[in-house]
Order: sequence, then structure tokens, then C-alpha cells
Amino acid sequence: MPPAPDCVRCGAPVYVLDAKRMLPSEQSANTDIPDGIYAMIEKPIALVTGAGGGIGQEIATTLASHQWTVVVNDLHDDTANKTSAAINRAGGDSMTLSGDIADSATVERLFSVAFNKYQRPVSLLINNAGVQTWASLDELTAEQWQRTISTNLTGCFLMTQRFAKTAPAGSSIVNIGSGCNKLAFPKLVDYSAAKGGVEMFTKSSALELGPRGIRVNCIAPGAIATERTAAETGDYNNSWAELTPLRRIGTAKDVANAVLLLADDKAGFITGQTINVDGGLFSQAIWPNSY
Ligand SMILES: NC(=O)c1ccc[n+]([C@@H]2O[C@H](COP(=O)([O-])OP(=O)(O)OC[C@H]3O[C@@H](n4cnc5c(N)ncnc54)[C@H](O)[C@@H]3O)[C@@H](O)[C@H]2O)c1
Repeated sequence: MPPAPDCVRCGAPVYVLDAKRMLPSEQSANTDIPDGIYAMIEKPIALVTGAGGGIGQEIATTLASHQWTVVVNDLHDDTANKTSAAINRAGGDSMTLSGDIADSATVERLFSVAFNKYQRPVSLLINNAGVQTWASLDELTAEQWQRTISTNLTGCFLMTQRFAKTAPAGSSIVNIGSGCNKLAFPKLVDYSAAKGGVEMFTKSSALELGPRGIRVNCIAPGAIATERTAAETGDYNNSWAELTPLRRIGTAKDVANAVLLLADDKAGFITGQTINVDGGLFSQAIWPNSY
């Protein structure tokens, strides 16, 4: 490795990682790279799952407007293509790779096609794709249970495992959890079980990937306005705003901005954490009205 120049701001050595030339084994081992600041010579690549709409779409477009090349995944080609097209029209760099993230062959394809196109590995993974069934324990079918666990938890595992094979040191993962990570909501048995799992999976993978310089964190959104949530109840916005200490519901942009914070090198010592992006919603205790 050539001698490293010093950072003009802090004096630490700056090493330029030529991701194009690094073998996957070198990228993940990184034992021969000394301490210092790492600079990628090309735009880093982010992969966002479930980015055809809602929160994932906003995360993808926000990352693209902050110098990330974005691989847009969704189950559906048409919606994923709309997100990529919007990014590219705005002058960003994006490609669509649709497919089911709960299927291991699809997961392998996403990463290998992205690498073939950009000739460098994905260095930010946003595990956002998620589904739920609104059904009581009595009514929930085994198929519905399986679909939610596969998408929300198995998908998160498969994507993380494959990402970690090639991600260079300095990479990170943000999992999108929910208030259900810690709190039990009615008629969301499958979803709560999966999101509770996402929180523990975040911690366990942070522990294992930390020595390779890969950080793993989770965001638990509160009530966020999306097309999907608007259809949940007649007056979604007001009913959740009343319960939220900041007296409004969240936007997809609120979540995307938190992703930017966690992905930034300034968050370089934060890993294994879940951050509620909820206007204070999940910090409240249940309290009798008589007080
Ligand atoms: N909107 C909220 O209020 C809220 C609150 C808490 C947590 N969340 C979480 O945020 C994430 C996004 O939620 P949203 O409200 O934007 O939902 P959404 O339904 O609008 O978007 C989810 C996207 O994931 C895609 N998807 C589903 N299964 C997939 C699969 N197997 N492979 C690839 N893509 C798949 C869907 O096609 C859809 O485009 C989810 O994980 C959800 O649990 C949302």
C-alpha cells in the first residue's frame, strides 16, 4: 500500500480504498489495512429493499441525493423501476433489481448483478422490505405467519449474510424495525414476532460484524404517513398524531434522514442500536387518566 497522505482537517492518515481492485476476501478480512481514514474513490453503493414505495422509496431517493449510487429492490418490477427512474431523472445513479429478498437465490443474484454492473461492492444495506397481516392469533393462518416471518426476518438475515461477504470495512447496515420491536400491538402477532427478531438480529450481527468494521443498527419508526398506512384506518393521521408527544405523525423523510445519520461516518462508533424515529410515541408509559 502506498504511503498515506494526512487528512488536512485532523492529521490522520487517509487511505484510498480501491474497491474495484479488492477481492471479496480482502474486502471482508481487511487485516492488512492500517488504522486511519478511508476514502472510497467512487460513489459508494447502497442497496434498499422494498424501495418501490412508501418509506423505502424515500430512503432510496434521499440517499441518491446525498451522493450514493442506489440499487433499488422491490418484489414488483414496475414500482421499483419508478423509483430508479425518478432518481436517474434527478441526476442520480440508480438501477432496479427486483425480486423476493426471502429467496436465497434471488439474494445472491441481487449482489452479483450489482457487482457486475458497478465493479465494486455494496457498502450500505437498508433492510426495509416488510409486510404484516392484520389478524388475531385465532385467525392468523400458517401461510400468513410464514410470509411475514420470511419477508421481515429471513429476508433481513439472507441479505445481511450475503452483504457481509463482500462489504468493505466502513460499511454499514440499517434495519427498519417498528414499535413492535419492543411493544405488543393488537392483531399483529406475526409482525411483532418478526420485528422483535429484527431487533435481536441487529444486536447479534453487530457483534459478529464489528471486528470486520461493519456497523449494524436499526430504526423503529412510529406512525409514518405512507399510502399503506393511509388505508389502515379512516383517520390515520389524526388518531396517531393525538397519541404522539410531538403531536404529528412522521413522514418517510423523517425515517430517511435518520438512515442518513446512521450511515454517515460521523456515526462510526454507533452499532447494535435501535433508534426510535417516532416523535416520542414509544417512550410513553401507560398511565391512568385519574392523574
Ligand atoms: N409506515 C409506517 O408507519 C411504519 C411503521 C413502523 C415500521 N414500518 C416498517 O417500515 C418498512 C416500510 O414500510 P412502508 O410503510 O413503507 O410499507 P410499504 O408496504 O409501503 O412498502 C413495503 C415495500 O416492500 C415491498 N416488499 C414486500 N415484500 C417484499 C419482498 N419479499 N421482497 C422485496 N420487497 C418486498 C413491497 O412491495 C413494498 O413496496 C417496513 O419494514 C415496515 O414494517 C413502517
